[in-house]
Formats: sequence, structure tokens, C-alpha cells
Amino acid sequence: MDSSLLQAQAGLWNLTYGYLKTMSLRCALDLGIPKAIDNNGQPMSLSQLHSVLSLHPSKKSHLFRLMRLLIHFGFFIDKSAGVCTEAVYDLTAQSRLVIQNNESANMLPYVRFALENISLKTSLDMADWFMQDSKQIPFELANGCTLYEKTGREPVVNKMFNDAMVSSSCFFNDIIVKKGDEIFKGIEFLVDVGGGNGAMAEVIARNFPHVRCTVLDLPHVVHGNPNDGIIKFVSGDMFTYVPPADAILLKWILHNWRNEDCIRILRRCKDAIHSREAGGKVIILEAVVGSTSAMISEEPQLLFDMVMLTVTGGEERDENEWKYLFTEAGFSSYKITHTIGFMSVIESTGPEEHVSGSLKNPILPGTNPLKVPVDSGTAINYTRLYIVVERLRA
Ligand SMILES: C[S@@+](CC[C@H](N)C(=O)[O-])C[C@H]1O[C@@H](n2cnc3c(N)ncnc32)[C@H](O)[C@@H]1O
Repeated sequence: MDSSLLQAQAGLWNLTYGYLKTMSLRCALDLGIPKAIDNNGQPMSLSQLHSVLSLHPSKKSHLFRLMRLLIHFGFFIDKSAGVCTEAVYDLTAQSRLVIQNNESANMLPYVRFALENISLKTSLDMADWFMQDSKQIPFELANGCTLYEKTGREPVVNKMFNDAMVSSSCFFNDIIVKKGDEIFKGIEFLVDVGGGNGAMAEVIARNFPHVRCTVLDLPHVVHGNPNDGIIKFVSGDMFTYVPPADAILLKWILHNWRNEDCIRILRRCKDAIHSREAGGKVIILEAVVGSTSAMISEEPQLLFDMVMLTVTGGEERDENEWKYLFTEAGFSSYKITHTIGFMSVIESTGPEEHVSGSLKNPILPGTNPLKVPVDSGTAINYTRLYIVVERLRA
């Protein structure tokens, strides 16, 4: 048979059954497999693992098969090297990311939230959503309300989501600390808009004591955060009011929203900061699609875009689309500084790109995307960037 046909069939099987990767990961977390191996302090045989997890006696060979799949995707490793009579499992860099006591990077709360039924079911009926002329997003169709209405109504979901956001910050913290001298130079007051539980603001305040940080978020998020620490919490709606500041931080906010909403938020931010000459700026931590040629980043970016489509109704944007938003919101210029993304934090001494753009010639979204130049020979690449937007002269 034609080998290209066989390849096509294999690709189709992968797409068809790709959900089993996700469900196997969820199963491993539900069973507590990474934690069990971590608690053991050394690699663990299949028999040991089967016994520690208290699985049904008949399920040992099934456990072997689950582990075999997750080994294939690099989540675990078999250390038996063919010399032991049975498999011997250990954690990998990937599974260490979901170990609770991994202080440098614990992504477990984020992964758990992403694998919750409320998240998963948003993508089940996407086709129905495509057929409708509804302003509702797939999350609403599946759950009866928006994500932020749900977090507002259900304290358990609220806590789960906020913990997830804190855990997703761990890689950004490193970036902020490394780049902070440059980013926060001359900044005395910073407002982290949609700053959740204040994890990022706290990192900024601790590492750059000259910056006084306020977190603005919805009442149900701000409620319960003590206001006597180094961070001030303000409850409110970013669409109606953003407190005045030298700098506004928007981390993982704008990709949640459609263009018209982003423009409204950016205008509020612009009104809240000083002019460019007086040092006012908006600092955005987001992805810039197409900013890297590394395959390692491309798939997560595309998947994240679908997460935005289904869960929040937002989108991941390329530079051209960002430029459109800044122009429409009335900013005069922007600068993108590529940072080391979650794939390469430790090894990062890699090249850094600075791209500045004038916003005098607005570009429509979706047309002629400007590709950010990258060194395609660089093995380690970035996926997340920060964008600094300066306010138009008053
Ligand atoms: C994706 S989370 C990002 C949280 C935080 N910036 C981070 O990266 O960890 C979006 C945040 O925006 C907040 N948010 C949503 N709508 C808001 C509104 N209208 N006004 C203020 N905050 C809002 C949510 O409560 C949530 O904390």
C-alpha cells in the first residue's frame, strides 16, 4: 500500500484518539501515580506501584498499559533497561511539574482545572456552537453561564480556578524577576488588573520594593485576600474602572476576550496611566502567535487558542492582531521583548529579541501577519512574551 496513505491513516488515528492522551493523564492524576512515585523517593516497580495505589488485584496488567502510553508521551520513564523482570517507573521533567511540593514549578492545580468536567465538556458540542448565531461561548452552552459567572457563584470552582492561575504563574515569576529591573524602572505604583490572588503582584513587590502593587479583580476573587500585606486588593470591574497607576499589568487577561472587549479594557488602562513622557505604560504578559518557529511551542499555542475559543470566548493573537488592538485603543507605540518561555527557563541565556513598532499605520486583524524575526537555529525557544504599550501623548 502507498506509504503516504498509511501515514495519513496513522495521522487520522492520532487525531481520532488523541483525547485518550488527555484522559490517561487525568486517570494518572486521579490515581495519584506521580505523587506515589515521588513519595517512594526512587524508581518504583510495577508491582510496588500497583500495591501502593491499592488498585484492584486484577488491574496490574492494565496499569502496565496505562503507564506504557504515558511513557510514550514522556510523562514517565521506564528505568528497567531490560535487565529487570518488570518495568521500573520514574518521574520525568514533565511529571515533576505536577508534584505538589515542587516549589519551583507546580502546575498541578492548573492541569487539574483544565481536566475538570466543566472544562472538558465545553468542547463536546463545538459544532452546534458553530451553527448558531449566538453570542454565547461554548462554555456557556455547556455550563449555563460564563466562566467568571461560574467562579462568582461556586466557591469551590472559584478556589480551583484561582489556584490554577497561581500555579500557571510559576514560569512567569522567573521572567519577571530576570527582566524586572528593565520593566519596572521608575515605576512607583502598579495595578495588576485581573490579578487574581495577587501571586504575580507579590513577586513584583518582593523583588522590586520600590513598586507599590495593587490588585484589581472581581469581588469574589478579592474577597478573602487580606489587605494588610504588601499587596493592596481592590474589587471592581475592569470594564468600568481601573485605578490610576504608573504602570498597569495585564497577565493572561486579554486573550480571554474578543477584540471589542480588549479595546475597552485597554482604553480604561490607558486612561489610568500617565503619559508616555511621564513613564506610563501597560505591561502585557501573553503569547504572540507565530513569534517562534519552534515546533515545541506551536502546538501548545494552537491548543491554547482553542481553549480560549471554547472556555472564555477569547483568542491567542499574532503581532498584527495585537497591533490592531493597541491602535484602536489609542496607544502610540509598542515594544515586544521575547522572553524565555516555559520550555527553557533553566537553560536560558539564549538570544533576546526586541521588536518595536510604531502604531501610525493601523493594520486590520487577520491581514498580512507580521512575523517576528526569530533565530530558527536556536534550540531553545520562547512561547510567552511581554508587550509594553506606552500611552499616547496626552
Ligand atoms: C485568566 S485569569 C488571570 C489571573 C492572573 N492575571 C494570572 O495570570 O494569574 C483572569 C482574571 O481576570 C479576572 N476578571 C474577569 N473579569 C473581570 C472584570 N470584569 N474585572 C476585573 N477582573 C476580572 C478573573 O477573576 C481572573 O482573576
